[in-house]
Amino acid sequence: MKKFWLVALPVVLVAAATIAACSGRSAGSGQGQLLDIAQARGLSPDDARRALKTFVPPGGRDEFMLFASGGHSGQVHVIGVPSMRLLKTIAVFTPEPWQGFGYGADWSEAALNGENGNGGAAKDPLRWGDSHHPALSETDGKYDGRWLYINDRAHGRIGMVDLSDFRTKQILQVPNLQTSHGGIFATPNTEYVHISSKVPALKAWNAAKGQSITLDDHLNRYADVYRGYSAFLKVDQKTGRLDLSQSFQMELPPYTQDLADAGKGVSNGYAFVNSYNAEMATGGTAFGRPPLEVGASQMDFDYLHIINWQKAAEVVAAGKYVELNGIRVITLETAIAEGLLHLAAEPRSPHGVDIAPKGDYITVSGKLDPHATVYSFEMIKKAIETKNYEGTDRYGIPILKFDAVVAAKVELGAGPLHTQYDADGNAYTSLYLESAVAKWTLGAPYNPPDKAFKVLDKVSVHYNIGHLATTHGDTMAPRGKYLIAMNKWSMDRHQNVGPLHPQNFQLIDISGPKMELLADMPIGFGEPHYAQLVSVDVVKAHQVYEAGVSPASLQKSPNAIASEKEARVVRRPGVVEVWMNVVRSRFTPDIVTAKAGDTIIVHLSNAEQTPDATHGFAVPGQNVMVSLDPGETTTVKFKVDKPGTYSFYCTEFCSALHLEMQGWLIVEK
Ligand code: CUA
Repeated sequence: MKKFWLVALPVVLVAAATIAACSGRSAGSGQGQLLDIAQARGLSPDDARRALKTFVPPGGRDEFMLFASGGHSGQVHVIGVPSMRLLKTIAVFTPEPWQGFGYGADWSEAALNGENGNGGAAKDPLRWGDSHHPALSETDGKYDGRWLYINDRAHGRIGMVDLSDFRTKQILQVPNLQTSHGGIFATPNTEYVHISSKVPALKAWNAAKGQSITLDDHLNRYADVYRGYSAFLKVDQKTGRLDLSQSFQMELPPYTQDLADAGKGVSNGYAFVNSYNAEMATGGTAFGRPPLEVGASQMDFDYLHIINWQKAAEVVAAGKYVELNGIRVITLETAIAEGLLHLAAEPRSPHGVDIAPKGDYITVSGKLDPHATVYSFEMIKKAIETKNYEGTDRYGIPILKFDAVVAAKVELGAGPLHTQYDADGNAYTSLYLESAVAKWTLGAPYNPPDKAFKVLDKVSVHYNIGHLATTHGDTMAPRGKYLIAMNKWSMDRHQNVGPLHPQNFQLIDISGPKMELLADMPIGFGEPHYAQLVSVDVVKAHQVYEAGVSPASLQKSPNAIASEKEARVVRRPGVVEVWMNVVRSRFTPDIVTAKAGDTIIVHLSNAEQTPDATHGFAVPGQNVMVSLDPGETTTVKFKVDKPGTYSFYCTEFCSALHLEMQGWLIVEK
């Protein structure tokens, strides 16, 4: 080991000296100590070099921010890159008490209770989701740091996170979608956010909810009575909210639509959606049918859906739609007649569909095919114009001739899934079965013909990678530098914490010709699926709110009070309404009396303007927990039936007198 180090040490020392020179800090005798420290910790020279590449000193900042879905935790995790430190968890579909999300605060109840029915069948509002694929808003095809949209795999819902305060402001149940998967994206100027159904929905269920559903409908007439839907949800450019009244859907065959991506640059105005069950298998072994995974893998091809959404919006504006459960829907017949929808064969059981930075190539990976199939948008356009079809499907949708639209098939390895891009015309594809990432070259204009569609490098990951994310890697301006592999299994990588092991993110340096694995990050909170990796300079959140601002609207709340002098209690029959001032280290008023059974409404105004001076308001036994950022005004409403004295208190350690920051709610008989 020692000999090894003597050879390798100069490399590390040069790196350390460079850092010292850049930061103005003295390396001093530290240089001499590096060898001892590394040896004492059993680190190899490569380990030490990797540590230097990812280390962010105390007080330092990361260069990038990863917004990773939290899977069935329902949340979004914000992770600093390259340090791989967790910066924040944003509550989206699931209540999170420390953020005052789902424990009485008005803005959080409004979001969680959802819009448009909140999932359909449940009696009570849903209190969980399976957050899957995040999509950042864009301007001119580049991340703009305004909003983050994330879909709920378990339901056809989308959550909108406002990145000005990192809070979830809207959860919308998209009509006609029971479930969704990876079909979310923002169009290049965030005109629309797209999501498609995953499991096709029963047409009868859509047309008339509650209509009886027979087994016969379900199994034998699947192709006739089930449909998929692609939804284009209009974004309010001021608030980021999705506006159903301005949105539309396109009816699709029940092929199980899956991942999707937005056209950009030359393909702006188009959407690309794949599917994996063109067989329309339903499963049902008890009825003599093959299991779903067998039935859905029988044909050699599934279908890539090519949707002209810009033209579709014009067709809707011209009134050629039907209204279905509160949204305008272009029927399959209209979509075909107006030339809005084309199919192209894609090798069996495809997964990712990822558009190259200029919008010119569409990379589709086939889970059961070792190739990435690269479609050319130019060829697609020409095939549509010249009606170069190989026929139509059973619904009459034209199928573009495969050879007329495919620019290349690149053999990558076993189980290719998802692709991201860098700034130099390279693509990176995750290989699930092989537990690796393949780096390969795009064609012209990114690379000359002799260098096009060639595999350049491969790096092993640990283990079973699903998605990957490069910096700005699904935009028109990728930045290269880092790649995060989102691995499903970690097996032997981390300390055993029970039968369920954490999943594993791996940071990979892609700045050189060879990819290099730099760091592991165990993910101990649900299964992250996809992530967006964005430069920190793009996202600019508030430090404090202006006094009296409601997080729901970012406008001044009508219930804001500016000082303790304005604090007051107003009583009317059955109701006690309080305007409460909150500041280090007291609540005013600090004693509130009510009668058992009264509805208690508290308008809380945090009078602080100091960054990070957040206070809490928690009432024991009442499921009331509000977190108030500096400047914030929030309302909480609850009912206390049991007489008693309840000591409400501040849950944030806000000052030396934090423990004294409490008051009494006295409930009389
Ligand atoms: Cu306010 Cu602790």
